[in-house]
Amino acid sequence: HRSRDADHYTLTHAPAEEEIFLGTRTAIYAYGGSFVGPTIRARRGRAVTITHHNGLADPTTVHLHGGHVPADSDGYPMDLIAPGASKTYRYPNSQPSATLWYHDHAHGLEAEHVYRGLHGFYLLEDPAEWRLRLPGGRYDIPLLLNDAQFDADGQLVWRMNDFINRRTVLVNGRPQPYLRVAARRYRLRLLDAANLRSFALSLSTGDPLVQVASDGGLLPAPASVPAVSISPGERAEVVVDFSRYAPGTQVFLVDAVAGQLLRFDVVDHAFDLSRVPAQLRQMPGLPTPTTTRQVSLGMDLPTGTFRINGKLFDMDRVDAVIQRGTSEVWEITNTDTMLGIPHNLHLHLVQFRVLTRNGQPPAPTEAGFKDTVPVAPGEVVRVLATFGDYVGRYVYHCHLLDHSATGMMAQFEVV
Ligand code: C2O
Ligand code: CU
Ligand code: CU
Repeated sequence: HRSRDADHYTLTHAPAEEEIFLGTRTAIYAYGGSFVGPTIRARRGRAVTITHHNGLADPTTVHLHGGHVPADSDGYPMDLIAPGASKTYRYPNSQPSATLWYHDHAHGLEAEHVYRGLHGFYLLEDPAEWRLRLPGGRYDIPLLLNDAQFDADGQLVWRMNDFINRRTVLVNGRPQPYLRVAARRYRLRLLDAANLRSFALSLSTGDPLVQVASDGGLLPAPASVPAVSISPGERAEVVVDFSRYAPGTQVFLVDAVAGQLLRFDVVDHAFDLSRVPAQLRQMPGLPTPTTTRQVSLGMDLPTGTFRINGKLFDMDRVDAVIQRGTSEVWEITNTDTMLGIPHNLHLHLVQFRVLTRNGQPPAPTEAGFKDTVPVAPGEVVRVLATFGDYVGRYVYHCHLLDHSATGMMAQFEVV
C-alpha cells in the first residue's frame, strides 16, 4: 500500500508448492508463494519499503541486487532474519532506472535458497524516460532464466556445485513456456538467475537482438548483436520487433547450449508507436580514480576451494577500506586457466563502468553501468566504481552462487 513518502509491501518467504510441470506439485521456497516472486515496480525518486517475514526453518536475508541502498537495507550476509522473525528494508530508488532483482543472501545458504526459488524482479522505472518510447506496459516482459535438477517425482535435487546435472532450464519458473505476442516491438528483460549457468541467447530466425540496457539501466546507444551473453546475476534488455514475422509464425529464444528456451507465437498485427532511438543515455564523464586494486578470482588447488585474492570470506576481515566520495579502479583477473572455470565479479552498492577487457575498450553491450562483470579464464577486466554517499560494509563476490556460498566472497567498508 502507499503512504505519503513510500510504497510499502509485505512479503512472506516460506516453503510452498508450485506446478512447474503439469500435474506435479514441486516443493519450493517462495517469496509470496510463487517460484518467481512477485515483480515489484518502483519509480525513481519514490522510496519503497518491504517487510519480509521469514517463514522458513533457515535464517535468511534479502538483497536487492543492483540497488544503491544504505548498508542496513542491503541484505548483508550476516544481517539475518531468524526463522519466524521479520525485517523491513528501505530502498530509496534514487538511482537511474534499471532491472534489479531481489534474492536471498544468507551466508552459505544463498545458493540453495535462490536455487529453490527465493528470487524475483524489482523494476525501477523513470517517467523521464517515457519520451524515448521504448516498448512499455504489457509489451515489456521480464524473463527470469535459471536451471535445476529434478528427480523422477518432479522434486528439486540440490547438490552444491553440481552444474552438470542441472539440465532443465526454466523461464519464469517453467520449462519451455510459450508467449503469445502481437506483431510489434517488445522489450524483453533477461535475467540470468541461475547459480552457475551462463546463457548465449539468440532468435531462431537468425535476426539480431537489439540490446538497449544492461545491469545498471540503459546503454548509451542500442547495440545490435547476433546473440546476447549473460552470466549469473547479469541482466540484458533487448527489443525484438515481431512485426518482421507474419501472424502464425513461431519464433524461439534459443540458448547456444540448452537449445530452445521459450516460444513466441506471433498472433496478430498491432498498432505500435514504440521505437528504439539511436541515443538512449548520456554517460557521465569518467571520474579520476584514487586507487587501483587487484582482485584475483581462482581456485586454491590444495583445498579445491574458490577464493578471492587467495582468501575465503571472513566476516571479521575487511578486505578493502574505501574513502567515501572516491573512485577506484578494480583490476579483476580470472586465474583459473588450467581448469578453465569461468567466474564473474559482483559488487554491492555501486554500478561501475568497464574500462577495458584484456586491454581493449569494452564492447557496446558493456558500455553502460554494470554491477556484475564476467571474467573468463585468463581474462583481465578493469572497472571503475565511485563510492559516493553511503558508508558501511558491503560484500563483493563471484555471482556463481555455489562459489560465493562456499567462500568466494569478500567485503569492503566505505568510511
Ligand atoms: Cu545478486 Cu551479492 O548478489
Ligand atoms: Cu548484489
Ligand atoms: Cu566463481
